[in-house]
Amino acid sequence: MSDSPKRVFVGPLVQCSIDRHLEVVENAAIEVDKDGFVISVTALDSLPSTEYLKSNNVTILPTGSFLVPGLIDLHYHAPQLPQAGTNLHIPLHDWLTTTTLPLEAKYANTQFAETVFEKVVKRTLGHGTTTAVYFATKHRDSAKILASCCIKAGQRALVGKVCMDNKEMCLCTKESLCTCTETTTESIHETRTFLEEMVSLTKSCNSRVEPVVTPRFVPSCSPHLLTQLGSLSQEFNAHVQSHAWESDWQVEYGEQNRNGRDLDLFQNHNLISKQGTVFAHSVHANDSEIKQLAHHQIGVAHCPLSNAFFANGIMPARLMLEAGVPVGLGTDVGGAWSSSILDSCRQAVTSSRILRDGVGKLRGARNGPCSHPAEINHVDAFWMATVGGGLALKKKIGRIAPGYKFDALVVDVHAPNSNIDSFDSLVDTIETKFQKFVYLGDDRNIRQVYVDGICVLDKQ
Ligand code: GUN
Ligand code: FE
Repeated sequence: MSDSPKRVFVGPLVQCSIDRHLEVVENAAIEVDKDGFVISVTALDSLPSTEYLKSNNVTILPTGSFLVPGLIDLHYHAPQLPQAGTNLHIPLHDWLTTTTLPLEAKYANTQFAETVFEKVVKRTLGHGTTTAVYFATKHRDSAKILASCCIKAGQRALVGKVCMDNKEMCLCTKESLCTCTETTTESIHETRTFLEEMVSLTKSCNSRVEPVVTPRFVPSCSPHLLTQLGSLSQEFNAHVQSHAWESDWQVEYGEQNRNGRDLDLFQNHNLISKQGTVFAHSVHANDSEIKQLAHHQIGVAHCPLSNAFFANGIMPARLMLEAGVPVGLGTDVGGAWSSSILDSCRQAVTSSRILRDGVGKLRGARNGPCSHPAEINHVDAFWMATVGGGLALKKKIGRIAPGYKFDALVVDVHAPNSNIDSFDSLVDTIETKFQKFVYLGDDRNIRQVYVDGICVLDKQ
């Protein structure tokens, strides 16, 4: 074994180009430096010589497997894992007030927070999520515990202490006894302290885990809170995340009670961050708002599974992509039942087909009848799960190319007892194996997970 700090991975590589094409290198040699950056990607004519293997720190992928970039989940509510797969039959507002906010209130208990968050990170990493953008809860300590779990497990993450000072958004009858929301002063103070405390944590993990300023959504936040959060995001150079244009009810609440629509309100409060802002959902953004999202390169977390339950419409993913909006995917657990971004890929394709065929019109959603080609395919979906997520976060992740971080998955479509049937020599090419991974794959097909060049999960 060489003592060179540089490592080389040799095997097939499948990924999306920036312009949404599939790129396949049947036999790639990927050089990675000691800081986890990809130095070069070379197409080899044949397997490397024994000399080469001796002189380099080389890992050859097991036969039949291939490398893809790690998956990016732009929207995950970590405290909601305990309710994933339940209560999805109720409307968004009722779901929040009767189920979700009372569950999140329980994270005042730091032991409970630790138990759940360890599970969350284990589950998402197992599903190949190398970068996750998390909502924690309103509690600073719980948000710090989530950040520590990500650091310990080696996951790249943005972690938000959730801000919400509007008591109209919960069912607690006595303001003084409300455990769901927080006061405006508390929210601002706790956010500032969280951002300060995260500075040293960020340094200790090569910036793999960072804080993100997190106003829950317009209905949860007073205008004064939004203004202060805008200032804090600028002062700390932090990303911003929130929910935008998610459902009819949410959009109407902003128009009637805040005299504006999501993008205008976030812009007015200086919440469009240079580091990157991510709006979850964006189902009901209108054409001029879509243009603005593209112009300002504001990220959208497309959460097709939870949209099917809560959004009263289908997000026009292809329209957004063609407009140049940096769209990535989110699972939105527990507004959806799956922690797997591959499930989000599949639902993104399915929803786009339903939109194309006009069901949006029958439902009365703004995006029907569909006057433009609406469908996306598995390559577009995987692009969102990788390249789009990286663009939304303005980070060099989502591709395996020089200058990008080596965040990658070793995929094995032959894994025993998995959901994929592969017939190597007779039927399957590397492209069809990749398609099968997108449509049929799950955690059983992910053998190894690399973040920042480090193997953080090895199922060999
Ligand atoms: N809007 C405000 N909070 C939430 C949440 O937790 N989940 C979803 N899907 N929408 C929200
Ligand atoms: Fe959400």
